[in-house]
Amino acid sequence: MKAMQTSPFEGQKPGTSGLRKKVRIFQQAHYLENFVQSVFDTLEGLEGKTLVVGGDGRYYNREAIQIILRMAAANGFGRVLVGCDGLLSTPAASAVIRKYKAFGGLILSASHNPGGPDGDFGIKYNISNGGPAPEKLTDAIYQHSQNINRYLIAEGEDAPLETLGSYHIGDMLVEIIDPVADYAELMASLFDFAAIRSLLTSGYRICFDAMHAINGPYAKKILEEVLGAPQGSVINGEPLADFGGGHPDPNLTYAKDLVEIMYAENAPAFGAASDGDGDRNMILGTNFFVNPSDSLAVLAANAHWVPGYENGLAGVARSMPTSQAVDRVAEQLRIECFETPTGWKFFGNLLDAGRITLCGEESFGTGSDHVREKDGLWAVLFWLNILAVRGETVQEVMHDHWSRFGRNFYTRHDHEGIDSNGAQQLMSHLQQQLPELPGKTFGEYTVSYSDDFSYTDPIDGSISTGQGLRIGFDNGTRIIYRLSGTGTEGATLRIYIEKFEADTNKHDQDPQQALVDLIDIANTLCKLEEYTGRDKPTVIT
Ligand code: G1P
Ligand code: ZN
Repeated sequence: MKAMQTSPFEGQKPGTSGLRKKVRIFQQAHYLENFVQSVFDTLEGLEGKTLVVGGDGRYYNREAIQIILRMAAANGFGRVLVGCDGLLSTPAASAVIRKYKAFGGLILSASHNPGGPDGDFGIKYNISNGGPAPEKLTDAIYQHSQNINRYLIAEGEDAPLETLGSYHIGDMLVEIIDPVADYAELMASLFDFAAIRSLLTSGYRICFDAMHAINGPYAKKILEEVLGAPQGSVINGEPLADFGGGHPDPNLTYAKDLVEIMYAENAPAFGAASDGDGDRNMILGTNFFVNPSDSLAVLAANAHWVPGYENGLAGVARSMPTSQAVDRVAEQLRIECFETPTGWKFFGNLLDAGRITLCGEESFGTGSDHVREKDGLWAVLFWLNILAVRGETVQEVMHDHWSRFGRNFYTRHDHEGIDSNGAQQLMSHLQQQLPELPGKTFGEYTVSYSDDFSYTDPIDGSISTGQGLRIGFDNGTRIIYRLSGTGTEGATLRIYIEKFEADTNKHDQDPQQALVDLIDIANTLCKLEEYTGRDKPTVIT
């Protein structure tokens, strides 16, 4: 074992989901080591305990895992469980941490950000409940990283990551595990696999786009091998270190291959995609897009059809910018509904306390208390379970939902890679206006409240401020502005717009049409063009 001298790097501050930087930054000597040591030094009582390690297979995954294994040994962990080839999807890592009662896990991923030598890399620590470390811990890790002067690392050969089995680094046991098996077993325990199997072997066609990312092996195993979907139902199923040069984000812009297939003539009945590390999902029907906020509401309203949830839901939660569609379902089910800041870590306490069963975000994230991360393939299986039982198309399920609960028209406009100063100025310009907005009228809308969202965790009382600027109008109509905490280039401004429509005759409109006046108000209020030089978003959801 060696103690290596080092000095702090600026900016090792975990964002919405772990530390994300350009690969080249991570490749600097001692950069990764400093962060990992800061994590280990911040943890109490790791001696002899089990750590889970795996990543989404992106460029630098293997090298990073070799470093982490040697550092884990030198820091006194007793055992590391690592996915074969260094792979573990984020939800599978969460499942493995929980199943084996590990002390925690290090997940290597920059989620939906592009990979490759010029792309992004990332690392995050998950605690023993399988979920992302809470802010208190990530803040402490950051503080430590700013004062670090040494890290501990064992010497030795690289680990044979490609072979299942176990070996030792010093006193520490390394077990190389099948990355899919534990996760597949968990899915089989939640869903009616028999019903889904008979649907998928009846000529019902699906297309799952793994976007050359981690969920390829998971989807092939579960959808094709176990559930009998014809070979080829999973496309782009080989994980590649650079995701084939693509942007592994399952939305209508980046999941091009899937969108082409699902909007073509003779399209399959069901389409889905997941992201770089497998925790996001996009659901499509034939020529039909399911908004992620609606998807959460549909899962909640139909949970009684699904074996793992048939006993009812404790409650539900959504992130603040997520549409209020699920609130309407919660009201009818007479269960609690929580509004949390953006980022999965805020669901952890509610899930652990048994206050919620399902939760989700508008950013293509849906999940439940089965793990402590959002889970892309889980959402796909949930939908397939509902479709198999109800025997209806995706469109029929969605229309029926809107006719029962009304429709929350919703869109998110992303302005990616804008100048950071301009973005800051735009936000302060808005912030300054907030106190004067209530009572003001824009077109047919009158502002009923405006604030900078802050959240008090109902379980541990911790307070998170500065979580997005909200401008609320009557009847749940809202405009929200946030700067992304996951981007690595310049700044990304997200504008979220929502409006409720009870009238079934109006439910077929395109959301961009239904929201056109609010979109205009949103862009004018923040002086979009003046501060960003943009008049159109880079991505519309
Ligand atoms: C984005 C999403 C957020 C999600 C996070 C991690 O964060 O908006 O909902 O939890 O990615 O997947 P943002 O870039 O907006 O900070
Ligand atoms: Zn992700």
